[in-house]
Order: sequence, then structure tokens, then C-alpha cells
Amino acid sequence: MTAEVLDALKPRPGGRYADGTIGGAGHAAILLAASSPTGWLFGCDRDGDAVEAARARLAEFAGRFEVRRGNFAELADWVPAAGCDGVLLDLGVSSWQLDSPERGFSFQHDGPLDMRMDTRQVRTAADLVNGASAGELAEIFRELGGVRDARRLAKAIEGARARQPLKTTRHLAELIEQSSPRHGKKTHPATKVFQALRIAVNDEIGSLKRGLGGAVKILKPGGRLAVITFHSLEDRVVKEFGREQARDYTFAGEVDVPELRQPRVPELRWVTRKAIRPGAAELAENPRSRSAQLRVMEKI
Ligand SMILES: C[S@@+](CC[C@H](N)C(=O)[O-])C[C@H]1O[C@@H](n2cnc3c(N)ncnc32)[C@H](O)[C@@H]1O
Repeated sequence: MTAEVLDALKPRPGGRYADGTIGGAGHAAILLAASSPTGWLFGCDRDGDAVEAARARLAEFAGRFEVRRGNFAELADWVPAAGCDGVLLDLGVSSWQLDSPERGFSFQHDGPLDMRMDTRQVRTAADLVNGASAGELAEIFRELGGVRDARRLAKAIEGARARQPLKTTRHLAELIEQSSPRHGKKTHPATKVFQALRIAVNDEIGSLKRGLGGAVKILKPGGRLAVITFHSLEDRVVKEFGREQARDYTFAGEVDVPELRQPRVPELRWVTRKAIRPGAAELAENPRSRSAQLRVMEKI
């Protein structure tokens, strides 16, 4: 979504940008190149290897960026308030993480059941799979992965781990396949379960909610926030956040009762009403981008 991100953030010389998910610095390099010679970039990633790779990738822009290891939920703790013209969050895992068996993100390779984006974090996917109750697991699978037979699967895990702890991606994937046969479906039944576990292990929804709030703080008026999501759960959080921030009133409690509305100045406006999807060329080149959606908001 490079062209779409450039179009959304419109980098220019002297502009200041933040990339909260710097990964391999593909987008960051493009933002720095497009804002040459004086644009500045703040970048972060929870993954220490990604931070190293990003610093190396950005060496040609030395003196024009600061990259730290950390959660984008904390961007506002170190990036100056109202200091940025654009903020990018490109959510989820990188291809590099997915393709590294030792990180345990993918059932396509055998590896430890890990899934931590930040390896300083204590809790791994194995801890969750072997330690959470069947009820907790079922809720994670249902809520974060949309898994239909979540309860049956959680019970199967409970039975299997009583015999032998589940330590590897292959062991878990095989158990899921036995418990939820494909019935001719193209997608492996482990896909949604692995997604749900990854989101839970990394508290991705909690980070996203906090990160969106922080992004608004570090944006200048007129600055733009671009968020790329990869599944409907994330997209819903972004959509609801944007809607709430674009409202010219607040309401107390869960329900919006028109008589109880309090007027306020909105914080954001939508730049595009609908989510932007990758074009045909990108889809052909990178099939993993098929579920990507970009939403763009502007600080008022
Ligand atoms: C899709 S990749 C980003 C790729 C990057 N835009 C590029 O062009 O190379 C997502 C990255 O975000 C990181 N990440 C995910 N959630 C994060 C969070 N809450 N805080 C910081 N980094 C996060 C992951 O570790 C991963 O490296």
C-alpha cells in the first residue's frame, strides 16, 4: 500500500512523521526519501530484530530519524506532542516474522509455540495454550479469531495437554486439524486459531486502542493518521475510534441518547469515507496483502 500511504500522508521536506510499526522500514524509507532533504522520522517496533533491521535499512538517511524499541501504544511518551505531520500504523506481523520458524507465528513451519512480538515479554503462546482454562481459550478463539467450534477445540486442547504439554506450532496445528477437519475448505483450520492466539499473546487490541489515542496527541492540527489493518476486528476498532473522534458531541454511558448529548469540538475528520484496498498489481505481487485495508483521518 505504498502509493496509498504516500497519497494519504503527503510527505514533504521539513515534515515530521512517525511510523509506529517500522518493521523492515519499507514504508519508513519511502517517507524519508519523499521528505528529503529535511524530513524527520520517529519510528518504533516491539520487535528488537525489526528495530535493528530498520536502523540498518535507514542508514542512508542518518541524522534524520530516531528509532526505538517499544510499543506504539507508548509513542506519545517520547514523541513531542502535536509534533507530527503524519503517523503510520501498519498493523499485525511482518512477512519476516511469519517466515521465521523460531518465532512461532506460523503453522507453515515447525517451531516453538512462542508468538511474542517483543521477546522481553514473559508470556508466550505456549504459556497461554497450556495454562489458560478451556473456557478462557474458547473465548479467545471465538472473540479474536471468529472460530466457530471454539469450545470443542478448547476441550480438545485441554485433553491433549493433560497427556503432554503443547510446545510446538506443528503439534498444535495437527491437533486443530484432527479436531476441526477441513471438509474441503481451502483455509487450514489452524489459521484463525493462530491469529487469535497471536492477538491475545501480544494484547494487540489493547495496544491499538491506546496507540490510536496516542497518535492523535502527537499529530499537529492538519496532520494525518494512516492505519493499515489486516482483519475485521482491528478494522472495527479503527472505524469506531475514527467515528467517535469525528463526532461533534459526547455522551455518557454506553447508549447515545440524543437529549443527553454534550457538544464538543471533534478531534478528527475522515479523509476518505471508505477503507482503501490494495490495487490489482499489489495483490498479484503480494497475496498476503489481500486482507489489508487503509483508513485515513486528519486531526482538526
Ligand atoms: C506489517 S509489519 C510492518 C512493516 C513495515 N510497515 C514495513 O514497511 O516494513 C508490522 C510490524 O509491526 C510491529 N508491531 C505490531 N504491533 C506493534 C505494537 N503494538 N507496537 C510496536 N510495533 C508493533 C511488528 O513487530 C511488525 O514488525
